[in-house]
Amino acid sequence: MEIPSDAEKITLRANKKYKICTCGSSKTLPYCDNSHRDLNEKKGTSYKSLKIFPSEDITLSVFSKNWK
Ligand code: FES
Repeated sequence: MEIPSDAEKITLRANKKYKICTCGSSKTLPYCDNSHRDLNEKKGTSYKSLKIFPSEDITLSVFSKNWK
């Protein structure tokens, strides 16, 4: 499996909630800052964040083509 060179490596802590941006408009990528609400209002889209609830500490590489 090849990880894209522009993937973000993030470390998540157990028993916390994380929201990952799927729309690309967040100013805190890769995390959601709720900018999708304005984007959805302006563009008629229905973006929502991806919620992650790790049961243990974990490091992930995350990537979305919408973040460019
Ligand atoms: S800001 Fe992009 S999904 Fe929330």
